[in-house]
Amino acid sequence: MIAKKETKHRPTHRQSEFNLDGIVPWGRRLDEYEAFFALSDVPLAARILDVGGGPASFAGEASAQGRHVTAIDPIYAAEGGAIRAQFERTAKAMKAGMTAARYRFNWKFYGSEELVHKRRREALDLFLADYAREGAVRYVPGSLPDLPFADGTFDLALSSHLLFLYGDELNADFHVSALRELMRVAGEVRVFPLLNLDGRPSSHLPVVMQAMRADGFVPELCDVDFEFQIGATKMLRVRKD
Ligand SMILES: C[S@@+](CC[C@H](N)C(=O)[O-])C[C@H]1O[C@@H](n2cnc3c(N)ncnc32)[C@H](O)[C@@H]1O
Repeated sequence: MIAKKETKHRPTHRQSEFNLDGIVPWGRRLDEYEAFFALSDVPLAARILDVGGGPASFAGEASAQGRHVTAIDPIYAAEGGAIRAQFERTAKAMKAGMTAARYRFNWKFYGSEELVHKRRREALDLFLADYAREGAVRYVPGSLPDLPFADGTFDLALSSHLLFLYGDELNADFHVSALRELMRVAGEVRVFPLLNLDGRPSSHLPVVMQAMRADGFVPELCDVDFEFQIGATKMLRVRKD
């Protein structure tokens, strides 16, 4: 297990369908991030942080298009080979979980379980090639809620498939600290999805939104043109006033 730093936030119960070994490295591609976060309104020059980027190919693919992306994740302390090995262990558990839970996904975007897995492998291969080339520049080892960046380093921070999704692993206090940290290092934060692994709305969301308002920030729930977990059709967007 690579990402052991999270063990202090142990699960309070196990998911019945997805029996995963903690917060797993399972990565998505650029077109998926564009859909989750409605990135078409984000200028090319924006400095973007992908927090919990894992083996996603977003940072590499977006950078190839001229975007400025830095990714941070505890797994970036590991070599590419160790990340691939962890991915392979995850793939087995994901396959079993997705088969058991297939009824609560909308298959319109991906088509089938096989095609989801094919995409995850494409993302991994693209990520590993970029990681080998740009590891020291683009991929920073580190973890929420303490990021090694100065205030306002980024225009936008993205969190995909970490916060809220792993709400049994990471408690409400962690989520509030994580969002505060992201708002310290970035001008705006976007988070997707807002459901947990069981497909239920995260109970941490109202707590986080209240804390953001109390801090003087502007949290809002925005519709996105994407649905895979049925009902996961909104992202959280937090801006400075
Ligand atoms: C399911 S993957 C999502 C990867 C990518 N964001 C995507 O959506 O394709 C979750 C990632 O979060 C990372 N992670 C776990 N705890 C973290 C923390 N405290 N801070 C930042 N990343 C963390 C894991 O190592 C893993 O790579």
